[in-house]
Amino acid sequence: MELNEILPRIIADDKLHARWLNTLSLMENTGARKISASEDPVTVTYIILKHAAEEHRHAFYLKKQIEKTADGTCPTYSDTYLVAPAYSKYYLNQLDVQVCRYLKKELNLSGKDLRFAAYLLVTYAIEVRADELYPVYQDALDNAKSKVNVKSIILEEEGHLEEMINQLKTFSPNWELHAEKAVAMEAGLFQNWVGALAGEVAGSSIES
Ligand SMILES: [Fe+2]
Ligand SMILES: [Fe+2]
Repeated sequence: MELNEILPRIIADDKLHARWLNTLSLMENTGARKISASEDPVTVTYIILKHAAEEHRHAFYLKKQIEKTADGTCPTYSDTYLVAPAYSKYYLNQLDVQVCRYLKKELNLSGKDLRFAAYLLVTYAIEVRADELYPVYQDALDNAKSKVNVKSIILEEEGHLEEMINQLKTFSPNWELHAEKAVAMEAGLFQNWVGALAGEVAGSSIES
């Protein structure tokens, strides 16, 4: 099952939809915390601060959207309040591990330089994904005439991708080669995540 088939099923079930929003919120929060953790306390730039602030806002905004579905159902990021909890948590951390491994091996990076390069590549791959995922979700929301909307996130994610490309260009003349590798790693993890979502959606329609 592809995401464009999974999402209408999620949206049709208020409780499941609340858990989905909570899961996206968790993933945005994980991304935001990773950006903040990779910041150099001295050389952090305007763009990095802006990016971290916006990712934190996405986490909060998605959490707030739960009010429009099944209010009060997902107070925390506990597994019971998430969809495909293991995969949703594993996705970003695993991408980080794989990208760091690649950077150590191919570019011999370590310490601060490794942290910054990993921030660039991991975030780039995630922004490519976000630019695909949120519009598919918004279409499904529009089709279902849902009160939930993620248009403000879509707008900011488009800006992020551009900002990541600009930062990558300054980082390396071979940035496209490295970025391609990161995108390929992300695609594998994303496939697994979608598979886990599909399993859970199929399971919940049997229950109901
Ligand atoms: Fe985001
Ligand atoms: Fe973003």
